[in-house]
Amino acid sequence: MGRAKRLKDYKSMDKLIIRGGGRIDGDIRISGSKNSGLPILAATILANGPMNICNLPHLNDITTMLALLRCMGVGVTINEKMCVEVDPCSLTEYEAPYELVKTMRASILVLGPTLAKYGQADVSFPGGCAIGSRPVDIHLRGLEAMGAEIEVDAGYIRARAPGGLKGAHFVMDKVTVGGTENLLMAAALAKGKTILDNAAREPEIVDLANCLVAMGAKISGIGTTTLEIEGVEELHGCTYTVMPDRIETGTYLVAAAATGGAVKLRDTRADILTAVLQKLEEAGASIETGEGYISLDMHGRRPKAVDLITAPYPAFPTDMQAQFTAMNAVAEGTSAVTETIFENRLIQIHELNRMGADIKLEGNTALIKGVERLKGAPVMATDLRASASLVIAAMVADGETLVDRIYHIDRGYECIEEKLQQLGVDIRRVPG
Ligand code: EPZ
Repeated sequence: MGRAKRLKDYKSMDKLIIRGGGRIDGDIRISGSKNSGLPILAATILANGPMNICNLPHLNDITTMLALLRCMGVGVTINEKMCVEVDPCSLTEYEAPYELVKTMRASILVLGPTLAKYGQADVSFPGGCAIGSRPVDIHLRGLEAMGAEIEVDAGYIRARAPGGLKGAHFVMDKVTVGGTENLLMAAALAKGKTILDNAAREPEIVDLANCLVAMGAKISGIGTTTLEIEGVEELHGCTYTVMPDRIETGTYLVAAAATGGAVKLRDTRADILTAVLQKLEEAGASIETGEGYISLDMHGRRPKAVDLITAPYPAFPTDMQAQFTAMNAVAEGTSAVTETIFENRLIQIHELNRMGADIKLEGNTALIKGVERLKGAPVMATDLRASASLVIAAMVADGETLVDRIYHIDRGYECIEEKLQQLGVDIRRVPG
Protein backbone atom coordinates (compact mmCIF):
# COMPACT_ATOMS: atom_id res chain seq x y z
CA MET A 1 0.00 0.00 0.00
CA GLY A 2 1.35 3.46 -0.91
CA ARG A 3 2.14 6.00 1.76
CA ALA A 4 -0.48 8.45 0.51
CA LYS A 5 -3.15 5.78 0.83
CA ARG A 6 -2.07 4.96 4.35
CA LEU A 7 -2.41 8.61 5.36
CA LYS A 8 -6.17 8.56 5.58
CA ASP A 9 -8.19 11.51 6.85
CA TYR A 10 -10.44 10.16 9.59
CA LYS A 11 -12.66 13.20 10.02
CA SER A 12 -16.31 12.52 9.46
CA MET A 13 -19.04 15.13 9.75
CA ASP A 14 -21.46 12.90 11.69
CA LYS A 15 -23.78 14.60 14.15
CA LEU A 16 -25.51 13.45 17.34
CA ILE A 17 -29.14 14.19 18.05
CA ILE A 18 -30.11 13.94 21.70
CA ARG A 19 -33.55 14.36 23.20
CA GLY A 20 -33.08 15.42 26.80
CA GLY A 21 -35.12 15.11 29.93
CA GLY A 22 -34.62 11.50 30.99
CA ARG A 23 -32.53 10.09 33.79
CA ILE A 24 -29.57 7.87 33.09
CA ASP A 25 -30.11 4.40 34.49
CA GLY A 26 -28.16 1.26 33.77
CA ASP A 27 -24.95 -0.63 33.56
CA ILE A 28 -22.11 -0.38 31.01
CA ARG A 29 -18.53 -1.52 30.48
CA ILE A 30 -15.67 0.99 30.43
CA SER A 31 -13.17 0.78 27.56
CA GLY A 32 -9.39 0.75 27.72
CA SER A 33 -7.62 4.07 28.25
CA LYS A 34 -6.91 6.20 25.19
CA ASN A 35 -4.25 8.21 26.97
CA SER A 36 -2.27 5.18 28.10
CA GLY A 37 -2.95 3.17 24.92
CA LEU A 38 -1.28 5.90 22.83
CA PRO A 39 2.09 6.02 24.64
CA ILE A 40 2.09 2.23 25.05
CA LEU A 41 1.70 1.83 21.28
CA ALA A 42 4.58 4.30 20.81
CA ALA A 43 6.66 2.28 23.31
CA THR A 44 6.36 -0.85 21.15
CA ILE A 45 8.97 0.80 18.88
CA LEU A 46 11.53 0.09 21.63
CA ALA A 47 11.02 -3.69 21.61
CA ASN A 48 13.20 -6.20 19.84
CA GLY A 49 10.31 -8.58 19.28
CA PRO A 50 6.53 -8.62 18.78
CA MET A 51 4.25 -7.01 21.35
CA ASN A 52 0.62 -7.86 22.08
CA ILE A 53 -1.41 -4.93 23.37
CA CYS A 54 -4.83 -5.81 24.75
CA ASN A 55 -7.83 -3.72 25.83
CA LEU A 56 -7.07 -0.92 23.38
CA PRO A 57 -10.18 1.17 22.79
CA HIS A 58 -11.55 1.33 19.27
CA LEU A 59 -11.06 5.07 18.75
CA ASN A 60 -9.90 7.32 15.96
CA ASP A 61 -6.80 8.42 17.89
CA ILE A 62 -5.73 4.80 18.41
CA THR A 63 -6.33 4.11 14.69
CA THR A 64 -4.18 7.15 13.87
CA MET A 65 -1.34 5.88 16.10
CA LEU A 66 -1.57 2.46 14.41
CA ALA A 67 -1.52 4.21 11.01
CA LEU A 68 1.59 6.10 12.10
CA LEU A 69 3.34 2.88 13.18
CA ARG A 70 2.40 1.25 9.86
CA CYS A 71 3.67 4.29 8.02
CA MET A 72 7.03 3.79 9.77
CA GLY A 73 7.09 0.20 8.50
CA VAL A 74 5.94 -1.49 11.73
CA GLY A 75 3.81 -4.62 11.29
CA VAL A 76 0.36 -4.23 12.89
CA THR A 77 -2.28 -6.98 13.03
CA ILE A 78 -5.39 -7.52 15.14
CA ASN A 79 -5.58 -11.05 16.48
CA GLU A 80 -8.61 -13.20 17.21
CA LYS A 81 -8.84 -11.92 20.83
CA MET A 82 -9.02 -8.29 19.57
CA CYS A 83 -5.50 -7.64 20.84
CA VAL A 84 -3.22 -5.63 18.58
CA GLU A 85 -0.03 -7.44 17.62
CA VAL A 86 2.75 -5.02 16.83
CA ASP A 87 6.00 -6.18 15.27
CA PRO A 88 8.41 -3.23 15.49
CA CYS A 89 11.37 -5.10 13.97
CA SER A 90 10.34 -4.14 10.44
CA LEU A 91 10.54 -0.39 11.20
CA THR A 92 12.38 1.34 8.33
CA GLU A 93 11.14 4.95 8.40
CA TYR A 94 12.13 7.24 11.25
CA GLU A 95 9.59 9.89 10.42
CA ALA A 96 6.19 10.98 11.76
CA PRO A 97 4.79 12.94 8.80
CA TYR A 98 2.81 16.17 8.94
CA GLU A 99 -0.32 14.49 7.52
CA LEU A 100 -0.65 12.33 10.66
CA VAL A 101 0.74 14.69 13.30
CA LYS A 102 -1.74 17.39 12.22
CA THR A 103 -4.63 15.01 12.97
CA MET A 104 -3.18 13.88 16.31
CA ARG A 105 -0.62 15.73 18.44
CA ALA A 106 0.11 12.59 20.46
CA SER A 107 2.14 11.45 17.41
CA ILE A 108 5.00 13.34 19.15
CA LEU A 109 5.22 10.28 21.45
CA VAL A 110 7.16 8.34 18.80
CA LEU A 111 10.02 10.87 19.07
CA GLY A 112 11.65 9.52 22.26
CA PRO A 113 11.45 5.79 21.45
CA THR A 114 12.52 6.16 17.78
CA LEU A 115 15.48 8.34 18.71
CA ALA A 116 16.53 6.03 21.56
CA LYS A 117 16.36 2.87 19.44
CA TYR A 118 17.59 4.12 16.04
CA GLY A 119 19.60 7.27 16.86
CA GLN A 120 17.41 9.40 14.61
CA ALA A 121 13.84 10.68 14.39
CA ASP A 122 12.04 13.31 12.33
CA VAL A 123 8.67 14.33 13.71
CA SER A 124 6.50 17.03 12.25
CA PHE A 125 6.30 19.85 14.82
CA PRO A 126 2.85 19.66 16.45
CA GLY A 127 1.07 23.01 16.45
CA GLY A 128 -1.38 24.32 19.01
CA CYS A 129 -4.96 23.11 19.10
CA ALA A 130 -8.38 24.36 20.22
CA ILE A 131 -7.50 24.07 23.93
CA GLY A 132 -4.17 25.88 23.92
CA SER A 133 -0.74 26.53 22.41
CA ARG A 134 0.68 23.25 23.78
CA PRO A 135 4.44 23.63 23.29
CA VAL A 136 6.80 20.61 23.35
CA ASP A 137 9.90 22.47 24.53
CA ILE A 138 10.32 20.29 27.62
CA HIS A 139 10.29 17.08 25.53
CA LEU A 140 13.06 18.55 23.38
CA ARG A 141 15.16 19.95 26.23
CA GLY A 142 15.00 16.62 28.05
CA LEU A 143 16.22 14.75 24.97
CA GLU A 144 19.00 17.33 24.52
CA ALA A 145 20.03 16.76 28.14
CA MET A 146 20.37 13.09 27.16
CA GLY A 147 22.79 14.03 24.37
CA ALA A 148 20.48 14.44 21.38
CA GLU A 149 21.12 17.10 18.76
CA ILE A 150 17.87 18.68 17.77
CA GLU A 151 17.00 21.19 15.12
CA VAL A 152 13.70 22.42 13.84
CA ASP A 153 13.70 22.58 10.07
CA ALA A 154 10.84 23.09 7.61
CA GLY A 155 8.24 22.35 10.27
CA TYR A 156 9.98 19.16 11.43
CA ILE A 157 11.79 18.31 14.66
CA ARG A 158 14.96 16.58 13.48
CA ALA A 159 16.64 14.73 16.35
CA ARG A 160 19.91 12.84 16.09
CA ALA A 161 21.94 10.77 18.57
CA PRO A 162 24.24 8.60 16.43
CA GLY A 163 26.09 7.14 19.42
CA GLY A 164 22.84 6.57 21.38
CA LEU A 165 21.31 8.60 24.20
CA LYS A 166 23.06 8.99 27.56
CA GLY A 167 21.41 9.03 30.96
CA ALA A 168 20.99 12.47 32.56
CA HIS A 169 19.44 14.19 35.56
CA PHE A 170 16.66 16.37 34.16
CA VAL A 171 14.27 18.57 36.12
CA MET A 172 11.11 19.38 34.21
CA ASP A 173 10.13 23.08 34.41
CA LYS A 174 6.47 22.15 34.39
CA VAL A 175 4.59 18.94 35.05
CA THR A 176 3.98 17.47 31.61
CA VAL A 177 2.31 14.15 30.88
CA GLY A 178 3.55 13.74 27.29
CA GLY A 179 6.99 15.11 28.17
CA THR A 180 7.39 12.61 31.02
CA GLU A 181 6.26 9.78 28.72
CA ASN A 182 8.62 10.69 25.88
CA LEU A 183 11.61 11.01 28.22
CA LEU A 184 10.76 7.85 30.16
CA MET A 185 10.65 5.83 26.93
CA ALA A 186 13.90 7.39 25.70
CA ALA A 187 15.66 6.77 29.03
CA ALA A 188 14.72 3.08 29.00
CA LEU A 189 17.33 2.47 26.25
CA ALA A 190 19.81 5.27 27.13
CA LYS A 191 23.26 4.40 28.44
CA GLY A 192 23.43 4.73 32.23
CA LYS A 193 21.05 6.25 34.72
CA THR A 194 18.41 8.91 34.06
CA ILE A 195 16.61 10.80 36.81
CA LEU A 196 13.44 12.63 35.78
CA ASP A 197 12.47 15.15 38.43
CA ASN A 198 9.14 16.97 38.70
CA ALA A 199 7.72 14.15 36.59
CA ALA A 200 4.00 13.81 36.01
CA ARG A 201 2.43 10.93 37.94
CA GLU A 202 -0.84 10.45 36.11
CA PRO A 203 -2.09 6.83 36.18
CA GLU A 204 -1.40 6.65 32.42
CA ILE A 205 2.30 7.20 33.16
CA VAL A 206 2.20 4.40 35.72
CA ASP A 207 0.58 2.18 33.07
CA LEU A 208 3.27 3.05 30.52
CA ALA A 209 6.03 2.46 33.11
CA ASN A 210 4.52 -0.92 34.04
CA CYS A 211 4.47 -1.87 30.36
CA LEU A 212 8.12 -0.82 29.97
CA VAL A 213 9.04 -2.90 33.04
CA ALA A 214 7.22 -5.88 31.47
CA MET A 215 9.47 -5.30 28.42
CA GLY A 216 12.57 -5.47 30.63
CA ALA A 217 13.10 -1.80 31.56
CA LYS A 218 14.55 -0.88 34.96
CA ILE A 219 12.47 1.89 36.47
CA SER A 220 12.01 2.91 40.08
CA GLY A 221 9.86 5.62 41.63
CA ILE A 222 6.87 4.67 39.46
CA GLY A 223 3.87 6.78 40.50
CA THR A 224 6.06 9.45 42.15
CA THR A 225 7.47 12.76 40.92
CA THR A 226 11.00 11.33 40.63
CA LEU A 227 11.52 8.53 38.13
CA GLU A 228 14.86 6.74 38.10
CA ILE A 229 15.64 4.73 35.00
CA GLU A 230 18.66 2.49 34.59
CA GLY A 231 19.07 2.17 30.82
CA VAL A 232 19.23 -1.39 29.42
CA GLU A 233 20.82 -2.70 26.19
CA GLU A 234 17.57 -3.96 24.76
CA LEU A 235 13.90 -4.43 25.53
CA HIS A 236 11.90 -7.50 24.61
CA GLY A 237 8.33 -7.96 23.41
CA CYS A 238 5.55 -8.83 25.86
CA THR A 239 1.79 -8.97 26.24
CA TYR A 240 0.28 -6.00 28.05
CA THR A 241 -3.29 -5.06 28.94
CA VAL A 242 -4.07 -1.34 28.92
CA MET A 243 -5.77 0.07 32.05
CA PRO A 244 -9.40 1.31 32.02
CA ASP A 245 -10.12 4.84 30.81
CA ARG A 246 -10.54 7.01 33.91
CA ILE A 247 -11.87 9.98 31.92
CA GLU A 248 -14.50 7.89 30.13
CA THR A 249 -15.44 6.53 33.57
CA GLY A 250 -15.68 10.03 35.04
CA THR A 251 -17.72 11.30 32.09
CA TYR A 252 -20.46 8.64 32.52
CA LEU A 253 -20.50 9.27 36.29
CA VAL A 254 -21.03 13.00 35.74
CA ALA A 255 -23.72 12.30 33.12
CA ALA A 256 -25.58 10.20 35.69
CA ALA A 257 -25.13 12.86 38.38
CA ALA A 258 -26.30 15.71 36.13
CA THR A 259 -29.49 13.83 35.19
CA GLY A 260 -30.27 12.78 38.78
CA GLY A 261 -29.80 9.18 37.64
CA ALA A 262 -27.92 6.03 38.58
CA VAL A 263 -25.19 4.08 36.82
CA LYS A 264 -22.97 1.07 37.35
CA LEU A 265 -19.68 1.09 35.44
CA ARG A 266 -17.84 -2.21 35.06
CA ASP A 267 -14.20 -2.98 34.17
CA THR A 268 -12.96 0.24 35.73
CA ARG A 269 -11.06 1.34 38.83
CA ALA A 270 -11.97 3.71 41.63
CA ASP A 271 -8.40 4.19 42.95
CA ILE A 272 -7.43 6.37 39.94
CA LEU A 273 -10.44 8.67 40.30
CA THR A 274 -10.26 9.82 43.91
CA ALA A 275 -10.50 13.59 43.23
CA VAL A 276 -13.41 13.10 40.81
CA LEU A 277 -15.36 10.78 43.13
CA GLN A 278 -14.84 13.23 46.00
CA LYS A 279 -16.38 16.06 43.95
CA LEU A 280 -19.31 13.86 42.91
CA GLU A 281 -19.99 13.04 46.57
CA GLU A 282 -19.88 16.77 47.32
CA ALA A 283 -22.48 17.17 44.56
CA GLY A 284 -24.74 14.79 46.48
CA ALA A 285 -24.05 11.43 44.81
CA SER A 286 -24.00 8.13 46.70
CA ILE A 287 -21.03 6.18 45.41
CA GLU A 288 -20.15 2.55 45.90
CA THR A 289 -16.93 1.04 44.66
CA GLY A 290 -15.68 -2.51 44.53
CA GLU A 291 -13.42 -4.87 42.60
CA GLY A 292 -13.61 -3.55 39.02
CA TYR A 293 -16.74 -1.41 39.36
CA ILE A 294 -18.07 1.98 40.45
CA SER A 295 -21.77 2.74 40.99
CA LEU A 296 -23.32 6.13 41.47
CA ASP A 297 -26.84 6.99 42.52
CA MET A 298 -28.33 10.49 42.76
CA HIS A 299 -31.68 9.12 43.99
CA GLY A 300 -33.44 11.46 41.54
CA ARG A 301 -32.00 14.58 43.17
CA ARG A 302 -30.62 17.65 41.42
CA PRO A 303 -26.83 17.92 41.91
CA LYS A 304 -25.35 20.57 44.21
CA ALA A 305 -22.86 22.98 42.62
CA VAL A 306 -19.18 22.20 43.34
CA ASP A 307 -16.11 24.46 43.07
CA LEU A 308 -13.02 23.01 41.48
CA ILE A 309 -9.52 23.83 40.28
CA THR A 310 -7.72 21.68 37.73
CA ALA A 311 -4.12 20.62 38.43
CA PRO A 312 -1.80 17.68 37.70
CA TYR A 313 -2.62 14.28 39.24
CA PRO A 314 -3.61 13.47 41.95
CA ALA A 315 -5.53 16.78 41.93
CA PHE A 316 -8.64 17.35 39.82
CA PRO A 317 -8.00 16.47 36.12
CA THR A 318 -8.34 19.07 33.38
CA ASP A 319 -9.89 16.33 31.23
CA MET A 320 -12.94 16.27 33.57
CA GLN A 321 -13.38 20.05 33.89
CA ALA A 322 -15.79 20.54 30.96
CA GLN A 323 -18.11 17.73 32.10
CA PHE A 324 -18.33 19.18 35.64
CA THR A 325 -18.96 22.64 34.17
CA ALA A 326 -22.00 21.19 32.35
CA MET A 327 -23.22 19.53 35.56
CA ASN A 328 -22.73 22.76 37.54
CA ALA A 329 -24.75 24.63 34.88
CA VAL A 330 -27.88 22.77 36.07
CA ALA A 331 -26.86 22.32 39.71
CA GLU A 332 -28.37 23.93 42.78
CA GLY A 333 -26.25 26.94 43.75
CA THR A 334 -23.29 28.79 42.29
CA SER A 335 -19.79 27.54 41.60
CA ALA A 336 -16.34 28.58 40.39
CA VAL A 337 -14.43 26.31 38.04
CA THR A 338 -10.79 27.28 37.49
CA GLU A 339 -8.73 25.82 34.65
CA THR A 340 -4.96 25.98 35.25
CA ILE A 341 -3.53 23.55 32.67
CA PHE A 342 -4.67 24.80 29.24
CA GLU A 343 -5.34 28.46 28.45
CA ASN A 344 -8.40 27.92 26.25
CA ARG A 345 -10.18 25.01 27.86
CA LEU A 346 -13.29 26.83 29.07
CA ILE A 347 -14.33 27.33 25.47
CA GLN A 348 -17.46 25.17 25.88
CA ILE A 349 -19.16 27.72 28.13
CA HIS A 350 -20.27 29.79 25.13
CA GLU A 351 -22.16 26.83 23.68
CA LEU A 352 -23.59 26.02 27.14
CA ASN A 353 -24.82 29.61 27.44
CA ARG A 354 -26.53 29.23 24.06
CA MET A 355 -28.47 26.39 25.71
CA GLY A 356 -29.60 28.67 28.52
CA ALA A 357 -26.75 28.26 31.04
CA ASP A 358 -25.66 31.26 33.12
CA ILE A 359 -21.86 31.19 33.03
CA LYS A 360 -19.47 34.14 33.09
CA LEU A 361 -15.81 33.91 32.30
CA GLU A 362 -13.38 35.78 34.55
CA GLY A 363 -9.82 35.11 33.49
CA ASN A 364 -9.36 31.36 33.76
CA THR A 365 -12.39 30.88 36.00
CA ALA A 366 -15.95 30.11 34.99
CA LEU A 367 -18.48 31.56 37.42
CA ILE A 368 -21.58 29.43 37.14
CA LYS A 369 -25.10 30.14 38.42
CA GLY A 370 -27.01 26.89 38.27
CA VAL A 371 -30.30 27.05 36.32
CA GLU A 372 -33.19 24.57 36.69
CA ARG A 373 -33.11 23.39 33.08
CA LEU A 374 -31.31 24.00 29.81
CA LYS A 375 -32.97 24.22 26.42
CA GLY A 376 -31.98 22.07 23.44
CA ALA A 377 -30.21 23.91 20.60
CA PRO A 378 -27.88 23.17 17.70
CA VAL A 379 -24.34 23.29 19.14
CA MET A 380 -20.86 22.66 17.85
CA ALA A 381 -18.15 20.54 19.42
CA THR A 382 -14.74 22.22 19.57
CA ASP A 383 -12.58 19.60 21.28
CA LEU A 384 -12.94 16.20 22.82
CA ARG A 385 -13.96 16.98 26.41
CA ALA A 386 -15.91 20.11 25.44
CA SER A 387 -17.97 17.82 23.19
CA ALA A 388 -18.62 15.47 26.09
CA SER A 389 -19.88 18.43 28.12
CA LEU A 390 -22.32 19.34 25.33
CA VAL A 391 -23.66 15.78 25.27
CA ILE A 392 -24.21 15.95 29.05
CA ALA A 393 -25.90 19.35 28.70
CA ALA A 394 -28.13 17.93 25.96
CA MET A 395 -29.28 15.16 28.31
CA VAL A 396 -30.50 17.71 30.85
CA ALA A 397 -32.04 20.05 28.28
CA ASP A 398 -35.67 20.28 27.26
CA GLY A 399 -36.20 19.26 23.67
CA GLU A 400 -33.67 18.24 21.07
CA THR A 401 -30.00 19.15 20.77
CA LEU A 402 -27.97 18.58 17.65
CA VAL A 403 -24.25 18.28 18.36
CA ASP A 404 -22.19 19.00 15.27
CA ARG A 405 -18.53 18.11 14.57
CA ILE A 406 -18.60 15.01 16.72
CA TYR A 407 -15.42 13.66 15.17
CA HIS A 408 -13.92 15.22 18.31
CA ILE A 409 -16.01 12.87 20.50
CA ASP A 410 -15.08 9.86 18.41
CA ARG A 411 -11.44 10.51 19.30
CA GLY A 412 -12.05 9.65 22.94
CA TYR A 413 -15.36 7.86 23.56
CA GLU A 414 -15.80 4.34 22.21
CA CYS A 415 -19.35 3.66 20.96
CA ILE A 416 -20.72 6.68 22.81
CA GLU A 417 -24.22 6.50 21.38
CA GLU A 418 -24.54 2.73 21.96
CA LYS A 419 -23.38 3.12 25.57
CA LEU A 420 -25.73 6.04 26.23
CA GLN A 421 -28.62 4.19 24.58
CA GLN A 422 -27.92 1.31 26.93
CA LEU A 423 -28.28 3.81 29.78
CA GLY A 424 -31.68 4.90 28.46
CA VAL A 425 -30.65 8.10 26.69
CA ASP A 426 -32.56 9.10 23.54
CA ILE A 427 -29.56 9.62 21.26
CA ARG A 428 -28.83 8.84 17.64
CA ARG A 429 -26.09 9.49 15.13
CA VAL A 430 -26.81 11.08 11.80
CA PRO A 431 -24.15 10.59 9.17
CA GLY A 432 -22.70 13.83 7.80
C1 EPZ B 1 -1.98 14.91 28.01
O1 EPZ B 1 -1.66 15.92 27.05
C2 EPZ B 1 -3.27 14.29 27.57
N1 EPZ B 1 -3.12 13.72 26.24
C3 EPZ B 1 -4.36 15.34 27.58
O2 EPZ B 1 -5.56 14.69 27.27
C4 EPZ B 1 -4.47 15.95 28.99
O3 EPZ B 1 -5.39 16.99 28.98
C5 EPZ B 1 -3.09 16.49 29.43
O4 EPZ B 1 -2.10 15.43 29.31
C6 EPZ B 1 -3.07 17.00 30.85
O5 EPZ B 1 -3.46 16.00 31.73
C7 EPZ B 1 -2.62 12.50 26.10
O6 EPZ B 1 -2.27 11.83 27.06
C8 EPZ B 1 -2.52 11.94 24.72
P1 EPZ B 1 0.89 18.10 29.13
P2 EPZ B 1 -0.19 16.54 27.01
O7 EPZ B 1 2.18 17.98 28.41
O8 EPZ B 1 0.78 15.49 27.35
C9 EPZ B 1 2.53 22.58 29.07
C10 EPZ B 1 -7.76 14.57 26.37
O9 EPZ B 1 -8.82 15.24 26.33
N2 EPZ B 1 3.73 22.06 28.38
O10 EPZ B 1 0.75 17.44 30.45
O11 EPZ B 1 -0.06 17.24 25.72
C11 EPZ B 1 1.25 22.48 28.22
O12 EPZ B 1 1.13 23.54 27.31
C12 EPZ B 1 -6.48 15.29 26.41
O13 EPZ B 1 -7.72 13.33 26.34
C13 EPZ B 1 4.77 22.91 28.13
O14 EPZ B 1 4.74 24.11 28.47
O15 EPZ B 1 -0.29 17.61 28.16
C14 EPZ B 1 0.19 22.46 29.29
O16 EPZ B 1 -0.08 23.77 29.71
C15 EPZ B 1 -6.30 16.49 25.63
N3 EPZ B 1 5.88 22.41 27.50
C16 EPZ B 1 0.85 21.70 30.44
O17 EPZ B 1 2.27 21.77 30.19
C17 EPZ B 1 5.98 21.10 27.12
O18 EPZ B 1 7.01 20.71 26.54
C18 EPZ B 1 0.45 20.24 30.56
O19 EPZ B 1 0.54 19.62 29.28
C19 EPZ B 1 4.90 20.25 27.39
C20 EPZ B 1 3.79 20.75 28.02
